[in-house]
Amino acid sequence: MYIFSNTLGQHVGEEITLKGWLNNKRSSGSIIFLEIRDGYGFISAVVSKNEVDEKVWAEAERATQESSITVVGRVAKHPKREAVFEIHVTGCAVLQLAKDYPIAKKEHGPDFLMDHRHLWLRSKNQWAILRVRDAIITAINQYLHQEQFIKVDSPIFTPSACEGTTTLFPVPYFDLGTAYLSQSGQLYIEAAIASVGRCYDFGPVFRAEKSKTKRHLTEFWMMDAEAAFVEHEENLRIQEELVRYIIRYCLEHCQKELTILERDTEKLKRADAPFTRYTYEAAIKKLQELGSDITYGEDLGNDDEGLLTKDSVVPVFIEKWPKEIKPFYMKLDPADPAHALNDDLIATDGGGELIGGSQREEDINLILERIKKEGLNQADYEWYLDLRRYGAVPHSGFGIGLERAVRWITGVEHIRECIPFPRTIGRLRP
Ligand code: 4AD
Ligand code: MG
Repeated sequence: MYIFSNTLGQHVGEEITLKGWLNNKRSSGSIIFLEIRDGYGFISAVVSKNEVDEKVWAEAERATQESSITVVGRVAKHPKREAVFEIHVTGCAVLQLAKDYPIAKKEHGPDFLMDHRHLWLRSKNQWAILRVRDAIITAINQYLHQEQFIKVDSPIFTPSACEGTTTLFPVPYFDLGTAYLSQSGQLYIEAAIASVGRCYDFGPVFRAEKSKTKRHLTEFWMMDAEAAFVEHEENLRIQEELVRYIIRYCLEHCQKELTILERDTEKLKRADAPFTRYTYEAAIKKLQELGSDITYGEDLGNDDEGLLTKDSVVPVFIEKWPKEIKPFYMKLDPADPAHALNDDLIATDGGGELIGGSQREEDINLILERIKKEGLNQADYEWYLDLRRYGAVPHSGFGIGLERAVRWITGVEHIRECIPFPRTIGRLRP
């Protein structure tokens, strides 16, 4: 019977078939150890010369790294390791013999691996990262539906900017001039809340980021959530609960993957507790005390984010930023209109900014003023202003960068490994 390796435990003593690829091979005289990768796990298949036909032995000998392969065998418990199973091979057939697989077992540099990303994805760590990424997506979808959000997709070709005009990617668009790849679907899902109350989008967004950091991609996935009748405090509560849900979901479903990635899961467990909160002003003061030369009015750099969270076991909110360094759509604090009712959520362990969110300005005059101050073309935003003309309500939302979340949960150093096929300022292939 053909089975997936993650169900081996249910078939101890039975003869089964596995289909996959040869990940690795060792031999010691009359025994060949085949490490099979079937997509669902990594399994040892033991071939004993004395116990198999000559033809089976010859196939096992012939099989090379990354050849596609079928093995038949009896499932046995691993002699020493708990909950690990192996196959005692009775049959083996190579489907396609791979010759000179370019990724050898030796160390390769990151450029070489990235050039071979289409093959590198098969390695154990990359397999684990892909699975954690999927778990995070599932957790986000589950949590939001529990909280009455539904998915409403936003467009990727857009006529204007959401997050400032400096990181737009222009695309020639027939007779209509220039379109821009979406930086965030926020403005569109703001429209949809007047239809469905709470909604979110989840898809690729684009930033012409010139920065070559371990945290920036030019194409990344973002989940933007938006909710009617939610104000600043509740916005933060939803964000915190979402992130804590992601942690718990991954701890429950990705133990194997996190072990492969050598992530300290105790740290993740401890992060599932009430998050710390600083106002922007308090964060600047704290950073100055800690030795940073940051001054009021500046954005936090990577080092500042690290410094602020270095002793924190939980993620840290920085709320109420100076309005000058935040976008036009953020509502200003009525008690202190120099600051916005917004937040950035900074992860622990050097994870950096995970989330940006805010309450939105619903007053048409105030938002018009901000659009003019930012030098944006009012005509481009008329449809968005309509949302303030026809039934404006207090509302809030936020966006979480999927790859930032993957990077934090997995503990992987570079964000380029957190998306199957990364796009950065220096990489468009494969
Ligand atoms: O803070 P940002 O720019 O916020 C927005 O775009 C809002 N419109 C979201 C909203 O309120 N609906 O981006 C949100 C998140 C960041 O916190 C970060 O996690 C991620 O997107 N992000 C990036 N991830 C990878 N590469 C980049 N270049 C990123 N820029 C932002
Ligand atoms: Mg941000």
